[in-house]
Amino acid sequence: MAYQVEIKPAKVSFQAEERESLLHATLRAGLNVDHGCTNGSCGHCKARLLKGKLSQIRYHDFILSEAEKQAGDILMCCHSARSDLQLETSLATDGSDIPRQEITTRVRRIDHIDDKTLRLYLRTPRSNTLRFMAGQHAVLKLDNGTQRELPIASCPCDGLNLEFHLHRESSDPFTDKIFDHAKKSMPIDVSAPCNGITLVENDHSPILFIAWGTGFAPIQSILENCLSLEFRQQMVFHWIVHEQEIHYADGYCRSVDDAMDNFHYHPIQTETAAEAIKKIIAWHGDFSEWRSYIIAPPAIVDNVVEALCAKGLPEEKIKSDPIVA
Ligand code: FES
Repeated sequence: MAYQVEIKPAKVSFQAEERESLLHATLRAGLNVDHGCTNGSCGHCKARLLKGKLSQIRYHDFILSEAEKQAGDILMCCHSARSDLQLETSLATDGSDIPRQEITTRVRRIDHIDDKTLRLYLRTPRSNTLRFMAGQHAVLKLDNGTQRELPIASCPCDGLNLEFHLHRESSDPFTDKIFDHAKKSMPIDVSAPCNGITLVENDHSPILFIAWGTGFAPIQSILENCLSLEFRQQMVFHWIVHEQEIHYADGYCRSVDDAMDNFHYHPIQTETAAEAIKKIIAWHGDFSEWRSYIIAPPAIVDNVVEALCAKGLPEEKIKSDPIVA
């Protein structure tokens, strides 16, 4: 059985299953609520019950004061809904709402896509998951002292399992170590979240996503967040790669395209940014009602922004993240 949960003061609602923790249901709905341990130790997920009935599904070590209990405070990771509910808690709407966290993770898996691209999967300790917003970055530090800032590719709804996409560059000790020596369980220190771009949630404009190469990583995270938030507007994704490269998540993009009437995937293979921009412009027409998120190398971002603005897209509705792709 599912119940309706309303979060105040944001006035957003979602469904929570009877035995599902309120924290899990909130994150699954794409909402960014404070949390940390997910097991009742840290107290970060404290919220105030305004209306409705709860079940306690987990014992918690974190101690609420008598005054907090009297006021109706509960831990969202330790309770589920037993009726429709109203809860009071704050939600992050901007990257700056979330403090930077330092977590030692372990390599869970590495998928080599080709000799220049891989997917790196990290796992945080169960008691210390990462809170971030879709589109934000993390700094990964290796035990050889090298580090790299990368966009997080996974959904903020799962702070335990983190995903990154890495493009190999010549003579870079960080990528050399990951490509040639990283193994399952290797420790990697993560400092996050930082930089990047975040989704504008309260805007219903159609969305134009544009990514170059591994610039797909933050688009994947943002897209997952859009799906959790049940965005209904039209979303078009143009993914550009070089002629000799592949769209390494082609199957994922096509499956979202098949499943969602409002999502359209448009892969492009070309050697020149000018040709890619020409194809993107030709695919549309008038951009005046759109919002755009662009992840591309710095030299390309400016050209894309200029071309979109010339076709009517207001510059203030463009978010761009210049990254090495
Ligand atoms: S007590 Fe830590 S997330 Fe709930």
